[in-house]
Amino acid sequence: MTEKISIQPDYETKDETKAGNYFVSNYPPFSFWNEQDVPCVSSLLNSPSSGSAPLGIYYHVPFCRKRCHFCYFKVYTDKNSNDVRKYLASTIKELQSYSESNYVKGRKPKFVYFGGGTPSYLSAQQLEDLTDQMKAVLPWDDAEEVTFECEPGTLSEKKLEAIKKFGVTRLSLGVENFSDHILEINGRAHRSKEVFSAYKFAKELGFENINIDLIAGMLDETDENWTECVEQVKELSPDCVTIYQMEVPFNTGIFKSMKEGGKLTAPVADWPTKRRWVNQAYEALEKVGYTVTSAYTAVKNPEATKFVYRDRLWSGADMIGLGVSSFGHLGGIHYQNLTNIDHYCDTIESKKTPIRRALLTNDEERFIRELILQWKLGRVNQKYFNDKFGVNISERYYTVLSEWKGRGDLSEENEELVLSRSALLKVDTLLHSLFLPRHRNAERYV
Ligand SMILES: C[S@@+](CC[C@H](N)C(=O)[O-])C[C@H]1O[C@@H](n2cnc3c(N)ncnc32)[C@H](O)[C@@H]1O
Ligand code: SF4
Repeated sequence: MTEKISIQPDYETKDETKAGNYFVSNYPPFSFWNEQDVPCVSSLLNSPSSGSAPLGIYYHVPFCRKRCHFCYFKVYTDKNSNDVRKYLASTIKELQSYSESNYVKGRKPKFVYFGGGTPSYLSAQQLEDLTDQMKAVLPWDDAEEVTFECEPGTLSEKKLEAIKKFGVTRLSLGVENFSDHILEINGRAHRSKEVFSAYKFAKELGFENINIDLIAGMLDETDENWTECVEQVKELSPDCVTIYQMEVPFNTGIFKSMKEGGKLTAPVADWPTKRRWVNQAYEALEKVGYTVTSAYTAVKNPEATKFVYRDRLWSGADMIGLGVSSFGHLGGIHYQNLTNIDHYCDTIESKKTPIRRALLTNDEERFIRELILQWKLGRVNQKYFNDKFGVNISERYYTVLSEWKGRGDLSEENEELVLSRSALLKVDTLLHSLFLPRHRNAERYV
């Protein structure tokens, strides 16, 4: 990154944004995943599946036009068309090997998710060829949802037509903000004009579910601008709005600049401000008919607009992770692929497993994993956990839940335990108290 990132002076509140990840995306924490458990995945793949868990596919496209200053995903901005071709071919070989395994043979994916990086970085032709090949290996005709993440500036009408044609039902646009100044100083490649044209084409093509991602607390965000962003979203009126609170993990451009300037506090809004902004957006969206369905999402019509990938994954589905640094989850085993693209491709070419680390979870860990992920929806169903894991949540977590209730963070509605709005907005900080003692205070993102 050659551009200079605007850094404001360190400031002090009780809850500044410090470097690191706050978002809890899985359990047990990644630092417990290891090389020793990698052979467990091969053993599982050699045996037939019990057939009870639905199957999904996550496909990672690690290419972007530009690396955003806040981004912590595995992305490359310097690959040429030969590198891309080689990568796509390797992922097909990887899928082929899953489809031939006893565990996957004969099963059909219920959901497919193209994430990144930027799936929409690929050309219409590359996407058509890739998805034809994927379907030939493992047909998608039973999929309830196919999600595709896009950076708005990469979307032409022709590309969107191709995306619609190969079966995408949920189009996710990484809008992040509507101010060109904010987009620019945060290192985004797109500008607001491209958001409006991409959104218009997507609407005309009739995608079932269009989602817009926003980040609360980008560099230089202000109350005034955020209010404007919320108004813009309301005007576009997408089926789903996802709002993340800005994090500044250690592998971001922003952190690099902080380190160079000897700063401990990230030059973005503090946590109370970010929560206030998300709350403001949710309240405004609720006023025009949206429903808040998780800590990060509001949807216009909850009956019609589902998020199958999230809901399946958070209730224990199997998911094949394809591509460099992809995460997967099969038969209670977590795994992650190699994180260097050349290493990944070469390993596939030499017919070895591209998995770098895994974790064979036990029943208790699987229970806690589902519980913490489902808390992010704002409510958990006690009967579900009793039936599936034989655990009475109220008894098992009596002390923690009493504390949450005492603070007004939690209430009970029939079978369900329900988080208050303010608790939901900081849910990622609450979840650690549900971890097993050995997993608390662990390095979560390694
Ligand atoms: C893989 S990106 C989406 C697709 C595409 N690469 C793009 O950015 O337009 C997934 C989403 O993660 C969110 N995100 C990325 N870095 C973040 C950070 N540091 N803090 C909070 N959210 C972040 C952004 O909202 C982004 O749209
Ligand atoms: S476009 Fe998306 S994946 Fe790529 S660097 Fe930016 S946030 Fe990360």
